Amino acid sequence: MDNRPIGVFDSGLGGLTAVKQLISVMPDEDIVYFGDTGRVPYGNRSRETIIRYTRDDINFLLEHNIKLIIAACGTASSVALPYINDVGVKIIGVLEPACQAALKRTRNGKIGVIGTAGTIKSDKYAQIINSLDPAARVFSAACPMFVPIVENGYANTEVARTVAMDYLSGLKNEGVDTLILGCTHYPLLEGVISDIMGDGVELISSGSEAARYAKKLLDREGLLTDRRTEGHREFYVSDDVESFVQLGGLFLGREIELNVHRMKF
Ligand code: DGL
Repeated sequence: MDNRPIGVFDSGLGGLTAVKQLISVMPDEDIVYFGDTGRVPYGNRSRETIIRYTRDDINFLLEHNIKLIIAACGTASSVALPYINDVGVKIIGVLEPACQAALKRTRNGKIGVIGTAGTIKSDKYAQIINSLDPAARVFSAACPMFVPIVENGYANTEVARTVAMDYLSGLKNEGVDTLILGCTHYPLLEGVISDIMGDGVELISSGSEAARYAKKLLDREGLLTDRRTEGHREFYVSDDVESFVQLGGLFLGREIELNVHRMKF
């Protein structure tokens, strides 16, 4: 049993989609969230910069006596985590849980992956999937416009549909039957993506899979909390608190009290 909080970080507020799932699978756990809103986006930055930012995010969470770190950010998970070794607590990225889930669910062995430019360029999803199943075929597409579309409130519009048609047509033509949403923001585009890909294509949300994976890991290691009361959640950002509070509800999808603090590096 361990009553310390779970630390979660993301390049900004998109990681709240993972927090939403964490709250649903482990409502009693305390959570400390850090969103690097002052330096978002990570998705189009160089590897060196993403590694440096990710180290800062992890170091910030380590100051909060956490028992586990979840890198909710697809970009940080794929580009930086492979270069970050022992920091004293376990770190989960979003890749392994999503790859395992995709391999379990695919019927034809053709898996699609979408993410930021950095995530897709790293090729990490394909590497992990093929290390688990060399016969699986992975088809990837970078979708750089998806993040601004979501953050500007265009998720359920014709704009989103037009852009998504363009990004997804290649994957659709390849006949993937499973599609990993490899970025924090993409669950908010699930309706549009699913419409375009069709009913037969199963969407895997990397945040949901990471939340379930985290629960299994904490359970296996005897690190779940033994409190049976709603967990306490603290949110930290590196830029304006107000805009985080305003957009936060969109990502959390329910009424969660947002105790948000501004931090400085
Ligand atoms: N959080 C990032 C991810 O999941 C998306 C936003 C960004 O580019 O920083 O890849």
